[in-house]
Amino acid sequence: MSFDHLLYTGRAEQILHQIVPGSVLACVTDPPYGLTQYRLDQVRACLQAWLAGKPYCPTGKGFMGRRWDNWIPGPEVWAPVSTTLTPGGYTLAFSSTRTVDLLALALRLSGFTILDQLVWLRGRSWPKGKHLDGRYCTTLKGLVEPIVLAQKPSGQQAVATLQQYQTGMLNVLDTVIRGEAVKTHSNSAEAVLSKGIYGSGKSGATRQNSRQEQGRFPANVVISHNWDCATVQDGGQVVESRCTAGCPALYLGEAASFFAQFQEEPAAFYADPVGNQERNCGLADRNPGLAVKPVALMKWLLQLVVPLGTGVVLDPFLGSGSTLLAGDDLGIPIWGIDADPVMVATAQQRLTGWRELR
Ligand SMILES: C[S@@+](CC[C@H](N)C(=O)[O-])C[C@H]1O[C@@H](n2cnc3c(N)ncnc32)[C@H](O)[C@@H]1O
Repeated sequence: MSFDHLLYTGRAEQILHQIVPGSVLACVTDPPYGLTQYRLDQVRACLQAWLAGKPYCPTGKGFMGRRWDNWIPGPEVWAPVSTTLTPGGYTLAFSSTRTVDLLALALRLSGFTILDQLVWLRGRSWPKGKHLDGRYCTTLKGLVEPIVLAQKPSGQQAVATLQQYQTGMLNVLDTVIRGEAVKTHSNSAEAVLSKGIYGSGKSGATRQNSRQEQGRFPANVVISHNWDCATVQDGGQVVESRCTAGCPALYLGEAASFFAQFQEEPAAFYADPVGNQERNCGLADRNPGLAVKPVALMKWLLQLVVPLGTGVVLDPFLGSGSTLLAGDDLGIPIWGIDADPVMVATAQQRLTGWRELR
């Protein structure tokens, strides 16, 4: 393990208080989606608890029987996340279409400003509801995962925040949609660019000069291609493809070129976005994690919220460490937390395996 990364075992709401306030640049995480029934009395009790500054801890289980998934993490987690962040720092949190309302509210109640909701479009999924006779079902097929983009207010203008705290503006240059020209519209951004502090900082002058040729402005939609689409990639993004049935890029046609596109890998399960090699690298057995995220997607998200190309990123719901693997590829130190020691060990082993693959 590189000395840059730090992994903690324990509940995020406790561990976060050990982290020096303002020492983290961004938070990129995949928290529990709380995929359970939401009765009105529970939602009311939850809001009352959160407004009273208390956690809401219902009994019961969530997705695939996991106890930790029985509700959305509340301000007891997001408020200390905000404390660890530098002013202007971003949080990107995955969610589900069913429970994103409560996640966004928990973030708001913790002092974050909600800036956007990215949409991750996927081609293959299965309807998770109850089926009857092939004729009725309680749900639609879920092809979309929202990713909430929130920000800790800095109390000053974005450019000043970028100059003082190295955050507060998104890294458009490193997340450009490959293939077409980027248009920048802001004089302030031009001024910042000309000071050479935008982009990774590793090759500032070259980046500034070539920015018009690098691609389209990043949008709040990202696409996963099916694993069996034939693709050409550039810097991890798909730039050309021959797509198979069900791929969202196939149905979007030309319009797909407006969005960052990544390719899924062959996986054990039909609808799994992460291939076996990536999922299980370094592990003797199958990855015990749920909802493992594609490393290419995590890299794009990390680049988006780390404007100068490096700075500590927090993942308080580390799981099997997809954020860690992505950060390692980019030279971004990841401070990861997971309540389950098995998941922390899994993330460590995956990192070792990932480095061997690289
Ligand atoms: C959806 S999984 C993250 C999966 C991850 N994206 C990956 O690629 O493997 C959520 C993780 O949060 C952990 N978790 C749940 N509640 C927690 C808490 N209060 N503090 C720390 N970790 C928690 C669970 O153990 C689980 O590993």
